[in-house]
Amino acid sequence: MGTKSLCLLLASVLVAYYVYTPIPENIEERWKLMLINAGFRTVAHVAEFAEWLGLMHYMEVLMMITSIEYTAPISDENVTVTDTKFNNVPARLYIPRKQSSGLKRAVIYIHGGGWCVGGSAMEPYDLLSRWTANKLNAVVISVEYRLAPMYHFPVQFEDVYTVVKFFLQNSVLAQYGVDPNRICISGDSAGGNLAAAVAQQLLDDLEVKVKLKIQALLYPALQTLDLDLPSYKDNENKPILPKSLMVRFWSEYFTTDVSLQEAMASNSHVPAESSHLFRFVNWSNLLPEKFKKDHVYASPIYGSSRLGKKYPGFLDPRAAPLLVDDTKLLGLPVTYVLTCQHDVLRDDGIMYVSRLREVGIEVIHDHIEDAIHGALMFITSPTDLALGHRAANKYIEWLNINL
Ligand SMILES: *[C@@H]1O[C@H](CO)[C@@H](O)[C@H](O)[C@H]1NC(C)=O
Ligand SMILES: *[C@@H]1O[C@H](CO)[C@@H](O)[C@H](O)[C@H]1NC(C)=O
Repeated sequence: MGTKSLCLLLASVLVAYYVYTPIPENIEERWKLMLINAGFRTVAHVAEFAEWLGLMHYMEVLMMITSIEYTAPISDENVTVTDTKFNNVPARLYIPRKQSSGLKRAVIYIHGGGWCVGGSAMEPYDLLSRWTANKLNAVVISVEYRLAPMYHFPVQFEDVYTVVKFFLQNSVLAQYGVDPNRICISGDSAGGNLAAAVAQQLLDDLEVKVKLKIQALLYPALQTLDLDLPSYKDNENKPILPKSLMVRFWSEYFTTDVSLQEAMASNSHVPAESSHLFRFVNWSNLLPEKFKKDHVYASPIYGSSRLGKKYPGFLDPRAAPLLVDDTKLLGLPVTYVLTCQHDVLRDDGIMYVSRLREVGIEVIHDHIEDAIHGALMFITSPTDLALGHRAANKYIEWLNINL
């Protein structure tokens, strides 16, 4: 074989390896998704390699790459965009230009990125906020919370909480012309986690008099206990968010110590002392039959109490909103939950829907059968997907009707 054909063969194998991922049958634009996913996988390999060489932390590489997508706060004909601070926490603020009599609605948006990456300035998040502000004629606040590995739990939660609490003061709402009865908290993925956690904790905060009208949780991460749910098993290697990356995000939220990551990867991180928490995430009771398929419920495997003592965050409901008692769910606002079939986090969202409905909270559950995790991120060229536009429209339409 000539050198040329050998090179060609090697190149094809490499390309095939990077590009080829089993894409679920019912997904449209398969080739585009394969290419996008190849991009994600390449970044992941570069990050692993850089970390292995000791050059950079894995998440720093991911952060560097996502920062390419950062946009400046540029106002357009419909929306005035500025980067500002609420009680010292940065946020990007979108104010619609349309003159309107009366008060406006407001959406506080929390971006995703596994508590480690992403930002309100990323093109898809910036666009989503503009669409929301424009379509709803609403004030949108997109929170720029601090990220891991530089900052671990509860910093992310506290940054978001600080902004929300500051904004919910009547004097501040008046300054922005916002109706105190029409405020939403929204977020996707890790942002959905933070939104759900903040909405819960606000219920106990006697200093906050203004209530959220709705919460919108887009494919949220809601629990740390069982990382072997049917959705984790079914979607272990699906595009965009493989289980290994989700485990890395979760553990990195609490610590860079790899022992937590390793324990989480084998789903043996929860100490026996916390066994009482498992009932809150018992998929055998909380998932409808159609999502259980042929999975068999197995009792939890307990880990050492050392990890639980050292990193109590992963047992804290501010990190895992499913881990609260039913009584703590009472009083939550009308809730929108979007879940995607081909997503490791699918069952987190579905179990929250079950738990909220059980205590009588009104929940609208949109489950998209042909969707992957992060659907709403794919709304900007060249990585836009029809799926992304559909999901974003659905969500914004729901907000428009219900807020
Ligand atoms: C401004 O809003 C109009 C009406 O919704 C829309 O057609 C137009 O594309 C928007 N402009 C920008 C820059 O988004
Ligand atoms: C989960 O639910 C199943 C079925 O109801 C039950 O047999 C099992 O003991 C429960 N496990 C926990 C840890 O609550």
